[in-house]
Amino acid sequence: MDLLWTQKLSQFAYRHNNESPLITIQNLDLEEAMADLKDPSVFLRVLNGERINPPPIWIMRQAGRYLPEYRELRTRAKSFLDFCYSPALATEAVLQPLRRFPLDAAILFSDILVVPDALGRKVWFVEGEGPRLEPLTQEAGWMFDDPQKAIQRLSPVYETAERIRGQISKDIALIGFAGGPWTVATYMLQGCGGDKDEARRAAYVRYQDVDHLLNVLVETTAQHLAAQVKAGADCLQIFESWAEGLSLPLFERLILKPSTALVSRLRALGVTVPIIGFPRGAGAHIGRYARETGITALGVDTQTPAAFVREQAPANMPLQGNLDPQLLVAGGKFLEQGARHVVEAFRGGPHIFNLGHGITPQATPENVAELVRIVKGAA
Ligand code: CP3
Repeated sequence: MDLLWTQKLSQFAYRHNNESPLITIQNLDLEEAMADLKDPSVFLRVLNGERINPPPIWIMRQAGRYLPEYRELRTRAKSFLDFCYSPALATEAVLQPLRRFPLDAAILFSDILVVPDALGRKVWFVEGEGPRLEPLTQEAGWMFDDPQKAIQRLSPVYETAERIRGQISKDIALIGFAGGPWTVATYMLQGCGGDKDEARRAAYVRYQDVDHLLNVLVETTAQHLAAQVKAGADCLQIFESWAEGLSLPLFERLILKPSTALVSRLRALGVTVPIIGFPRGAGAHIGRYARETGITALGVDTQTPAAFVREQAPANMPLQGNLDPQLLVAGGKFLEQGARHVVEAFRGGPHIFNLGHGITPQATPENVAELVRIVKGAA
């Protein structure tokens, strides 16, 4: 019996024992028992090390502006952060792609930048340009609110997770997420997206400040992710979207060390669910990230070949990825060839089909529908 089933069985027994210690077996609600023991989602089975053909599929940023109904919903909140902190709107955003496509997982609707917002930094989004923060590099002293207090401010996010878990079926897994410590730090240091030169410079010239910032982010992010699991998330993904462009010493200090601390802090907080690490742009460092951080599964970006990752990652580590998001704009035979190539390339081990980075607003819902059809028919 695999680990996940054992966990389910013991959770089930635990729940029922608590309710009526002596009559557990006779009073089992058989239907509930079967529902609990029936295939856990194929997505969670792959995260547990099974190879499943065709592979389960979800799409990074599957809720968002490529969907007309999302654009309509988005007009109901003044700002993007207000939208994220409205459980009713955020829950609806999560359900929208699930109504259109038979996806195997849902991802909580929120943003990686709610963490700096909760830590008391000013965060806002400029239409058509992206996020803005007051850059830390221009400030003499860095002050952050207490992680515990920050987490209290994020309670609407946990309420959203609870609502979603109550509204989607058990065979669809709910993914909680946060940004990796360095990725969130780059936005806080630099104040916007784009190149990360100032953030990297600060890592040298304000060595101690940056290390302190990373420590604050590790603790706050661990608490934030643990709260999502408590609210119903079945698995977690850490978006380390800015793992690129780092020398080996910086990769060790800014990515490996904080990511390892984050995963072990999560485990210390009692979090047992699988953790997907997505170190976009890690390149030659990807094997060390896979082997050393303690993650369960590895998200692979578009540029990294499946065979290279299989060689570098621990044997049988589940891999997720890595279709070029532009193929959901291009469509047609390009999409079909690209999708088949990804399925074939990852066939040698546990694989979750996904993009190599988030879907873009220019993608079409028709192309997403076509992709899901291609992948589901790919056994
Ligand atoms: O279905 C989902 O995945 C939605 C949940 C989600 C969002 N952001 C919503 C969002 C997730 C998982 C994220 C992660 C995120 N946010 C990352 C990591 C993934 C990646 O793409 O690398 C990063 C770096 C951010 C920070 C961020 N938020 C940026 C750079 C931007 C602007 C760029 C853009 O795509 O517009 C955002 C805004 C944002 N986050 C939007 C959405 C749907 C668009 C804003 C809007 O709808 O008004």
